[in-house]
Amino acid sequence: MGSPFVQSSLPLILDRADRLPLHLQLAEQFRAAIRDGRLAAGHRLPSTRDLAKDLSVSRSVAQAAYDQLHAEGWIEGRTGAGTFVTDVAPLQPAVRRRAATRPDPAEPLLTLRPGIPYIGPTPDPGWRRAWREVSTQSPPPGYDDAAGTPALREALAEHVRRVRGIACGPENLLITNGTVHGLRLLLTVTRQPGDRIAIEDPGYLNAVIAARDHRLEIVDVPVDEDGLQVSALTDDVPAAYVTPSHQYPLGGRLPVARRNELIRWARRTGAMLIEDDYDSEFRYDVAPLPALAQLDLDRVVHLGTLSKTLSPSLRLGWLVASDTMVDRLATFRAESGDWPGWPMQAALLTMLRDGYLDQAIRRSRRLYSDRRTHTCTVLAPYGQVIGQDAGLHITLLLPEHVDDRQVAVAGREAGVVVAPLSEYRRTTPGPPGLVIGYATPSTENLHKALDILTDVLSRR
Ligand SMILES: Cc1ncc(COP(=O)(O)O)c(C=O)c1O
Repeated sequence: MGSPFVQSSLPLILDRADRLPLHLQLAEQFRAAIRDGRLAAGHRLPSTRDLAKDLSVSRSVAQAAYDQLHAEGWIEGRTGAGTFVTDVAPLQPAVRRRAATRPDPAEPLLTLRPGIPYIGPTPDPGWRRAWREVSTQSPPPGYDDAAGTPALREALAEHVRRVRGIACGPENLLITNGTVHGLRLLLTVTRQPGDRIAIEDPGYLNAVIAARDHRLEIVDVPVDEDGLQVSALTDDVPAAYVTPSHQYPLGGRLPVARRNELIRWARRTGAMLIEDDYDSEFRYDVAPLPALAQLDLDRVVHLGTLSKTLSPSLRLGWLVASDTMVDRLATFRAESGDWPGWPMQAALLTMLRDGYLDQAIRRSRRLYSDRRTHTCTVLAPYGQVIGQDAGLHITLLLPEHVDDRQVAVAGREAGVVVAPLSEYRRTTPGPPGLVIGYATPSTENLHKALDILTDVLSRR
């Protein structure tokens, strides 16, 4: 880091440890100086050569910063005379006042990307207890059960019956390394290259990538505020991947009538339904809806995960299916050697038996409920908030003229990472938007991040 001075004693500070590229750091500091009047209209800027020398950066960094400022209209080149500040100083006084809430450029980026739960700074007693108990046991001899340890399958079957109402026993349970692992296993064992699979559009990118990797033909099915448009499914598609508890990313909760229609479609056509139940533990002030697997375990493969309740870094989840399907998958796994290790399975067993998982979910629910309310209130003036009844994220639909990818770029420059809705769209058109996760940061950082984001949005 250094703090050289250019003309007018304007201090420019570049931080090489920052994730924001140097030219963007430089451009932002010029912008700020022009906005608050330290660089007045008509002021001549140093040449890129002098600026680069002053700051000990390459000339291309200085040139890229000037190019950016040129493109945005802050500065102009006059042939033979140099580069000057244009007459833009009176712009956006509201933005100028709020700029003070932005983090220092040296601070790490705040993330509002969806999907990651809050992890507190110190581990809970329940977590520590589980691992202490694992450490007192010797690992089982041999290769253990490829479907998962029998004791954990028993305990998880009880959990799934209780919280999701699915009539299942240990023979219906297979322990996975999370949703995507379960999905890929299922595709490997049950699909052939060229088979068709229906996937929600917009939808979960990793499911799309898994289907592409298996060389499946993806059929894009539109989604509305209630979730998958079941009536758009055709009879020639033998499998469908869906997120009925909280459509990803739009957040609809598939109404009972559509769930029944979906099951009827699968029964009539013989199709397999893959139910991604990634964040059903979180719902706010709304009644539970039946899992698809509760309605017909012969037609549905249900995928659950610890990624939203405890942490995605645990890489643990479960698959619930008919016993014949579980046997088929376990046989494949016994040959491939690809199943979760015993220590993590043993720890989860203790967490289930001690009630730690339930307790962690209850606590997170309370925390997220407040954050969700705050996020919806703060963002409501900037668009239409949808998908707020469940999960760990909301979606903000933006006016048609706004480019959501540009908002994401501007957000990143200002210190906050958000996901543009267009990132999740394939062929079905729809309004621009932002998919905003409110779980990951501390409450204080969430407030900061939303301040920055609303600042960015108010300039669109
Ligand atoms: C729709 C959806 N499904 C599943 C997951 C979790 O996947 P995994 O259990 O593999 O971590 C996520 C995480 O972001 C998700 O958004």
